[in-house]
Amino acid sequence: MAGEQEKRNAAIAAIDYVEDGMTLGLGTGSTAKHFVELLADEVADGLIVRGVPTSAQTQRLAEAHGIPLLPVDQVQQIHLTVDGADEADGQGQLIKGGGAALLREKIIANASDQMIVIADPSKQVETLGAFPLPVEVTQFGFTITAKKVFDALVASGIARPKVELRQGADGQPVVTDGGNFILDCHCGIIPDAPATARGLADVPGVVEHGLFIGLARTVIFGSQDGAIVLDHT
Ligand code: 5RP
Repeated sequence: MAGEQEKRNAAIAAIDYVEDGMTLGLGTGSTAKHFVELLADEVADGLIVRGVPTSAQTQRLAEAHGIPLLPVDQVQQIHLTVDGADEADGQGQLIKGGGAALLREKIIANASDQMIVIADPSKQVETLGAFPLPVEVTQFGFTITAKKVFDALVASGIARPKVELRQGADGQPVVTDGGNFILDCHCGIIPDAPATARGLADVPGVVEHGLFIGLARTVIFGSQDGAIVLDHT
Protein backbone atom coordinates (compact mmCIF):
# COMPACT_ATOMS: atom_id res chain seq x y z
CA MET A 1 0.00 0.00 0.00
CA ALA A 2 1.11 3.57 -0.72
CA GLY A 3 3.22 5.07 2.03
CA GLU A 4 3.62 1.84 4.03
CA GLN A 5 7.43 2.04 4.05
CA GLU A 6 7.30 5.67 5.23
CA LYS A 7 4.84 4.74 7.95
CA ARG A 8 6.98 1.82 9.06
CA ASN A 9 10.14 3.96 9.13
CA ALA A 10 8.38 6.56 11.28
CA ALA A 11 7.32 3.80 13.65
CA ILE A 12 10.88 2.39 13.75
CA ALA A 13 12.17 5.83 14.76
CA ALA A 14 9.55 6.07 17.52
CA ILE A 15 10.63 2.75 19.02
CA ASP A 16 13.88 4.49 20.05
CA TYR A 17 11.89 6.54 22.58
CA VAL A 18 10.54 3.48 24.38
CA GLU A 19 12.23 2.52 27.63
CA ASP A 20 11.93 -0.52 29.83
CA GLY A 21 9.18 -0.16 32.42
CA MET A 22 7.14 2.42 30.51
CA THR A 23 3.38 2.58 30.32
CA LEU A 24 2.59 3.44 26.70
CA GLY A 25 -0.48 4.92 25.06
CA LEU A 26 -1.04 2.93 21.88
CA GLY A 27 -2.54 4.95 19.03
CA THR A 28 -5.00 3.93 16.35
CA GLY A 29 -4.71 3.64 12.58
CA SER A 30 -2.46 2.14 9.93
CA THR A 31 0.70 3.97 11.08
CA ALA A 32 0.14 3.20 14.76
CA LYS A 33 -0.35 -0.43 13.71
CA HIS A 34 3.28 -0.54 12.56
CA PHE A 35 4.36 0.77 15.95
CA VAL A 36 2.32 -1.86 17.79
CA GLU A 37 3.83 -4.61 15.65
CA LEU A 38 7.37 -3.36 16.22
CA LEU A 39 6.70 -2.98 19.94
CA ALA A 40 5.47 -6.57 20.02
CA ASP A 41 8.83 -7.68 18.61
CA GLU A 42 10.61 -5.80 21.40
CA VAL A 43 8.30 -7.35 24.01
CA ALA A 44 9.03 -10.79 22.60
CA ASP A 45 12.74 -9.97 23.05
CA GLY A 46 12.22 -9.12 26.74
CA LEU A 47 11.18 -5.46 26.88
CA ILE A 48 8.81 -4.85 29.78
CA VAL A 49 6.07 -2.32 29.00
CA ARG A 50 2.33 -2.01 29.49
CA GLY A 51 0.06 -0.59 26.84
CA VAL A 52 -3.05 1.53 27.11
CA PRO A 53 -4.97 1.21 23.82
CA THR A 54 -6.83 4.16 22.34
CA SER A 55 -9.49 2.07 20.61
CA ALA A 56 -11.10 -1.35 20.62
CA GLN A 57 -9.31 -1.97 17.32
CA THR A 58 -5.88 -1.30 18.83
CA GLN A 59 -6.78 -3.33 21.90
CA ARG A 60 -7.50 -6.36 19.70
CA LEU A 61 -4.28 -5.80 17.75
CA ALA A 62 -2.12 -5.46 20.87
CA GLU A 63 -3.71 -8.51 22.49
CA ALA A 64 -3.17 -10.56 19.34
CA HIS A 65 0.51 -9.56 19.42
CA GLY A 66 1.01 -10.39 23.09
CA ILE A 67 1.55 -6.85 24.41
CA PRO A 68 0.52 -6.64 28.08
CA LEU A 69 -2.27 -4.08 28.52
CA LEU A 70 -3.40 -2.04 31.48
CA PRO A 71 -7.10 -1.22 32.00
CA VAL A 72 -7.42 2.52 31.55
CA ASP A 73 -9.00 3.01 34.96
CA GLN A 74 -5.95 1.46 36.64
CA VAL A 75 -3.49 3.80 34.94
CA GLN A 76 -1.36 5.90 37.30
CA GLN A 77 0.96 7.44 34.73
CA ILE A 78 1.37 7.19 30.96
CA HIS A 79 4.98 7.91 30.09
CA LEU A 80 4.61 8.09 26.32
CA THR A 81 1.88 7.89 23.69
CA VAL A 82 2.70 7.11 20.06
CA ASP A 83 -0.09 7.79 17.59
CA GLY A 84 -0.72 8.72 13.97
CA ALA A 85 -2.34 11.84 12.56
CA ASP A 86 -4.36 12.91 9.57
CA GLU A 87 -2.53 16.25 9.34
CA ALA A 88 0.32 17.89 11.22
CA ASP A 89 1.43 21.48 10.75
CA GLY A 90 4.76 23.17 11.50
CA GLN A 91 3.75 23.88 15.09
CA GLY A 92 2.83 20.30 15.90
CA GLN A 93 -0.88 21.07 15.70
CA LEU A 94 -2.84 18.08 14.45
CA ILE A 95 -6.05 16.92 12.90
CA LYS A 96 -6.91 13.45 14.17
CA GLY A 97 -9.95 11.21 14.10
CA GLY A 98 -9.91 9.82 10.58
CA GLY A 99 -10.26 6.45 12.27
CA ALA A 100 -13.01 7.74 14.59
CA ALA A 101 -10.89 7.19 17.71
CA LEU A 102 -10.24 10.85 18.53
CA LEU A 103 -11.95 10.92 21.93
CA ARG A 104 -9.93 8.12 23.49
CA GLU A 105 -6.84 9.26 21.61
CA LYS A 106 -7.10 12.73 23.08
CA ILE A 107 -7.83 11.50 26.62
CA ILE A 108 -4.76 9.28 26.51
CA ALA A 109 -2.49 11.83 24.79
CA ASN A 110 -3.50 14.53 27.24
CA ALA A 111 -2.73 12.22 30.17
CA SER A 112 0.71 11.32 28.82
CA ASP A 113 4.04 12.80 29.79
CA GLN A 114 4.91 12.88 26.08
CA MET A 115 3.10 12.36 22.78
CA ILE A 116 4.97 11.36 19.64
CA VAL A 117 3.18 11.51 16.31
CA ILE A 118 4.26 9.18 13.54
CA ALA A 119 3.18 9.79 9.97
CA ASP A 120 4.05 9.49 6.32
CA PRO A 121 5.03 12.79 4.61
CA SER A 122 1.59 13.22 3.00
CA LYS A 123 0.33 14.29 6.45
CA GLN A 124 2.67 17.29 6.64
CA VAL A 125 0.80 20.54 5.91
CA GLU A 126 1.46 24.23 6.16
CA THR A 127 -2.04 25.01 7.45
CA LEU A 128 -4.54 22.50 8.82
CA GLY A 129 -7.88 21.97 7.13
CA ALA A 130 -7.64 20.09 3.83
CA PHE A 131 -8.48 16.89 5.72
CA PRO A 132 -12.09 17.07 6.95
CA LEU A 133 -12.03 17.83 10.68
CA PRO A 134 -13.76 15.05 12.65
CA VAL A 135 -16.03 16.19 15.48
CA GLU A 136 -17.53 13.56 17.80
CA VAL A 137 -21.08 14.38 18.88
CA THR A 138 -23.80 12.70 20.91
CA GLN A 139 -26.42 10.86 18.89
CA PHE A 140 -29.09 12.81 20.73
CA GLY A 141 -29.79 16.04 18.88
CA PHE A 142 -27.00 15.57 16.34
CA THR A 143 -28.73 17.61 13.62
CA ILE A 144 -29.08 20.55 16.03
CA THR A 145 -25.45 20.08 17.08
CA ALA A 146 -24.37 19.97 13.42
CA LYS A 147 -25.90 23.42 12.83
CA LYS A 148 -24.17 24.80 15.92
CA VAL A 149 -20.89 23.24 14.78
CA PHE A 150 -21.31 24.98 11.43
CA ASP A 151 -21.91 28.31 13.23
CA ALA A 152 -18.83 27.79 15.43
CA LEU A 153 -16.66 27.04 12.40
CA VAL A 154 -17.84 30.20 10.62
CA ALA A 155 -17.33 32.27 13.78
CA SER A 156 -13.73 31.07 14.00
CA GLY A 157 -12.96 32.31 10.48
CA ILE A 158 -13.72 29.34 8.22
CA ALA A 159 -15.36 30.71 5.11
CA ARG A 160 -17.77 28.07 3.79
CA PRO A 161 -17.59 24.90 5.86
CA LYS A 162 -19.56 21.80 4.98
CA VAL A 163 -20.59 19.56 7.86
CA GLU A 164 -21.40 15.93 7.05
CA LEU A 165 -22.46 13.00 9.19
CA ARG A 166 -19.92 10.21 8.70
CA GLN A 167 -21.48 7.08 7.26
CA GLY A 168 -20.08 3.61 6.83
CA ALA A 169 -20.07 1.46 3.72
CA ASP A 170 -23.53 0.22 4.76
CA GLY A 171 -24.90 3.77 4.58
CA GLN A 172 -25.47 3.86 8.34
CA PRO A 173 -23.89 6.46 10.63
CA VAL A 174 -20.50 5.44 11.98
CA VAL A 175 -20.75 4.86 15.74
CA THR A 176 -17.58 5.43 17.78
CA ASP A 177 -16.26 3.22 20.58
CA GLY A 178 -17.97 5.69 22.92
CA GLY A 179 -21.35 5.26 21.17
CA ASN A 180 -21.32 8.67 19.47
CA PHE A 181 -21.56 9.96 15.89
CA ILE A 182 -18.84 11.74 13.88
CA LEU A 183 -19.38 14.95 11.93
CA ASP A 184 -16.75 15.46 9.24
CA CYS A 185 -16.24 19.19 8.79
CA HIS A 186 -14.87 20.20 5.40
CA CYS A 187 -13.07 23.44 6.11
CA GLY A 188 -10.52 23.85 3.32
CA ILE A 189 -8.29 25.93 5.56
CA ILE A 190 -8.46 26.41 9.33
CA PRO A 191 -6.78 29.80 9.73
CA ASP A 192 -6.80 29.85 13.55
CA ALA A 193 -6.86 26.30 14.90
CA PRO A 194 -6.89 27.26 18.62
CA ALA A 195 -9.88 29.56 18.02
CA THR A 196 -11.72 26.81 16.14
CA ALA A 197 -10.90 24.35 18.93
CA ARG A 198 -12.30 26.72 21.55
CA GLY A 199 -15.44 27.39 19.53
CA LEU A 200 -16.17 23.71 18.99
CA ALA A 201 -15.55 22.84 22.63
CA ASP A 202 -18.26 25.34 23.60
CA VAL A 203 -21.01 23.62 21.57
CA PRO A 204 -23.33 21.43 23.68
CA GLY A 205 -23.47 17.97 22.15
CA VAL A 206 -19.84 18.09 21.01
CA VAL A 207 -18.07 15.35 22.93
CA GLU A 208 -14.64 16.08 21.44
CA HIS A 209 -13.07 17.43 18.28
CA GLY A 210 -10.08 16.28 16.27
CA LEU A 211 -7.89 19.36 16.72
CA PHE A 212 -4.93 18.40 18.91
CA ILE A 213 -3.26 21.63 20.02
CA GLY A 214 -0.12 21.64 22.16
CA LEU A 215 -0.17 17.87 22.71
CA ALA A 216 2.45 16.55 20.29
CA ARG A 217 5.97 17.52 21.30
CA THR A 218 7.58 15.39 18.62
CA VAL A 219 6.37 14.63 15.09
CA ILE A 220 8.21 11.98 13.09
CA PHE A 221 7.74 11.84 9.33
CA GLY A 222 8.96 8.62 7.80
CA SER A 223 10.66 8.56 4.42
CA GLN A 224 11.61 5.74 2.07
CA ASP A 225 14.97 5.29 3.77
CA GLY A 226 14.61 6.83 7.24
CA ALA A 227 12.75 9.45 9.18
CA ILE A 228 12.79 13.16 9.97
CA VAL A 229 12.17 14.09 13.60
CA LEU A 230 10.64 17.50 14.33
CA ASP A 231 10.64 18.67 17.94
CA HIS A 232 8.19 21.35 19.06
CA THR A 233 8.74 22.99 22.43
C1 5RP B 1 -7.61 7.63 14.24
C2 5RP B 1 -6.57 8.63 13.94
C3 5RP B 1 -5.39 8.15 13.15
O1 5RP B 1 -4.25 8.36 13.88
C4 5RP B 1 -5.33 8.94 11.88
O2 5RP B 1 -6.55 8.75 11.18
C5 5RP B 1 -4.18 8.50 10.99
O3 5RP B 1 -4.38 7.20 10.54
P1 5RP B 1 -3.39 6.49 9.54
O4 5RP B 1 -2.12 6.27 10.26
O5 5RP B 1 -4.10 5.21 9.17
O6 5RP B 1 -3.24 7.40 8.34
O7 5RP B 1 -6.62 9.76 14.30
O8 5RP B 1 -8.70 8.23 14.88
